[in-house]
Amino acid sequence: MSDNRTAIVTGGGQGIGRAIVLDLAAVGIDVAAADIDVESAKSVADEAKDRGIRSIAIKVDVADAASVETMVERVSVEFGRVDYLVNNAGITRDTLLMRMDDDAWKSVIDVNLTGTYLCSKAVIRIMMKQKFGRVVNISSVVGAMGNAGQTNYAASKAGILGFTKALAREVAARGITVNAVAPGFIQTAMTDALPEKARVELTGLIPSGRLGVPEDVAAAVRFLVSDEASYITGEVLHVNGGMYM
Ligand code: NAI
Repeated sequence: MSDNRTAIVTGGGQGIGRAIVLDLAAVGIDVAAADIDVESAKSVADEAKDRGIRSIAIKVDVADAASVETMVERVSVEFGRVDYLVNNAGITRDTLLMRMDDDAWKSVIDVNLTGTYLCSKAVIRIMMKQKFGRVVNISSVVGAMGNAGQTNYAASKAGILGFTKALAREVAARGITVNAVAPGFIQTAMTDALPEKARVELTGLIPSGRLGVPEDVAAAVRFLVSDEASYITGEVLHVNGGMYM
């Protein structure tokens, strides 16, 4: 077994999660790509292996405690340790509050917020024993500034920020940092779903004049898990081209 650091990236099958998996692999970290869509996770794990590290694909529903436990057990067995957890899996079910049904509220909270809780809880005991760990939670600019049509999503992403700070305080003395990355608008399937008019309007709000790319977010995650970031915890790193300061 190699001495490589190891990571779990949820929602690692596409978009920002895929970029995080490949970026960590490129700096020599063994990575598990965990996704509800295991076929996409498999193809990302194969790409990651081409960078010379160990990579596995795992099917997980982050909103399901038993599924999360199975994921963490599998990584522990295959890699021997769990150094980094990136809570990236997330969904949107956008609509105005007046039209929102309970299922749209609940499913977004379940995946984005409860998923972050369940995955963190499942790895934290291992990290405590190791006296080392890094948890990076993917929030959103929307959690900080709100967005019409996204009360469920904004609540889940703001909830992640509070969760990050509280957990950071609980585990700091054990060599574990817990931080959040809050992306602005990043080019992925999630933002491809926006109508063209909304995309043009949005770009006008971004001082950098462009949407971000998944690699912009992956670079922030790579920094927060690095040894150089060991004194940074409970922090929120905004990656948004200046649209929110
Ligand atoms: P995406 O929709 O392209 O990818 C999300 C991935 O999560 C998919 O592979 C999907 O299969 C997986 N997933 C969904 N539900 C899951 C579940 N229950 N269990 C396990 N995996 C599940 O989304 P994107 O754009 O890559 O977003 C990644 C994260 O970044 C999300 O948390 C999102 O909220 C956040 N984010 C994205 C922004 C953007 O502009 N694209 C902006 C701010 C935050």
